[in-house]
Amino acid sequence: MFKIRSLVTALALAGSVSVASAWDALPTQADAPADNPTTAAKVELGQMLYHDPRLSSTGTVSCASCHNTMLGGEDNRPNSMGVNGQTGGRSAPTVWNSAFNKVQFWDGRAASLEEQAAGPVTNPIEMGMKSWDDVVARLQSIEGYQKAFEEAFGKGTISKENATKAIAAYERTLITPNSPYDKYVGGDKSALSAQQVRGMEKVAELGCTSCHSGPAFNGPGTFQKFPVIPNGYWEAQHHFGKDKGLAEVSKKQADEHLWKVPTLRNVALTAPYFHNGSVKTLDQAVTLMAKLQLGKDLSKDEVADIVAFLNSLTGEFPKQKMPVLPGTPGSTFN
Ligand code: HEC
Ligand code: HEC
Repeated sequence: MFKIRSLVTALALAGSVSVASAWDALPTQADAPADNPTTAAKVELGQMLYHDPRLSSTGTVSCASCHNTMLGGEDNRPNSMGVNGQTGGRSAPTVWNSAFNKVQFWDGRAASLEEQAAGPVTNPIEMGMKSWDDVVARLQSIEGYQKAFEEAFGKGTISKENATKAIAAYERTLITPNSPYDKYVGGDKSALSAQQVRGMEKVAELGCTSCHSGPAFNGPGTFQKFPVIPNGYWEAQHHFGKDKGLAEVSKKQADEHLWKVPTLRNVALTAPYFHNGSVKTLDQAVTLMAKLQLGKDLSKDEVADIVAFLNSLTGEFPKQKMPVLPGTPGSTFN
């Protein structure tokens, strides 16, 4: 079905760039699951927890350390650094617009933002807490958190479930609408430069949109193969094949090197690229995708046009007020 969609798009673009409906603008709001409706009190609590390094064993690492919401929602490092300077093998994806991911993590192993948020806190190389019981005990010892949970969920409600619900509710507010691309598909023909329009046409014509389509450029499917060519140039440079993607979770051979199709929203801000963060520039990422996914060698100009288009996917970042975290007067973090 998506093949037909991108064909329609390509045909529409071949004419006078009358934009087909297959080009979707980013919604300004994300749907919340029925058991976690978004409320102002939850979002406020979630923002506090998200920025609080006391959710880590050393008191030094918060979600924001690796997913900086004052920047592109990640850390611009190939591999993020958790407690005690430890690094893992994967690059941090952006949290901006993560509400529009169909699944979470590069290998999609979490079905929701709620499920995802439980992971890093007790991951030994990320935030390093021994258990969620320890996290809950620590939050309970901070009076201001008792109040904030009460406002969001009711009296005496500090728990793993509610902490992760609050964080997810906050993440659902991290949306970057009104990019030049969104304005263009909304009818403002002056929002994109001629080069960006050429890049947009090229992306459809080449078939990038067979995997990166929809408002977040991460559909229509969920997982796609990253073609690993043993002994090839790209593999020798970047070792993409080391990590087996979905197969690391499912243990099925058929799932080897299957990865979630990542969003291309704000991609100009989220270098380095791919699951292991081994590609430093967007030019290289585009060149590589065209070659490995579509068997096409692009000219320098074509790459520049596509990169110009990808730059038009940088949206408006909502101004955020930094939260005031509840203090613990008279006590030292141990
Ligand atoms: C030490 C760095 C680090 C910390 C701390 C951290 N993350 Fe992450 N985060 C990562 C990395 C690396 C991945 C990708 C891991 C993977 O796919 O296996 C990730 C994945 C995610 C994703 C999935 C995004 C996507 O596109 O699939 C979300 C959402 C997220 N983190 C939110 C959080 C939240 C919320 C916290 C705090 C509770 C947090 N992270 C703490 C590094 C970190
Ligand atoms: C067959 C599906 C498919 C096609 C076609 C495809 N991509 Fe991708 N793209 C992916 C997958 C899967 C990943 C993640 C791979 C990984 O990191 O292991 C990805 C990653 C990317 C990234 C890196 C994103 C990040 O955050 O690190 C960029 C940029 C990108 N693609 C652009 C393009 C462009 C431009 C085209 C067309 C020239 C294209 N893609 C064609 C599936 C595809």
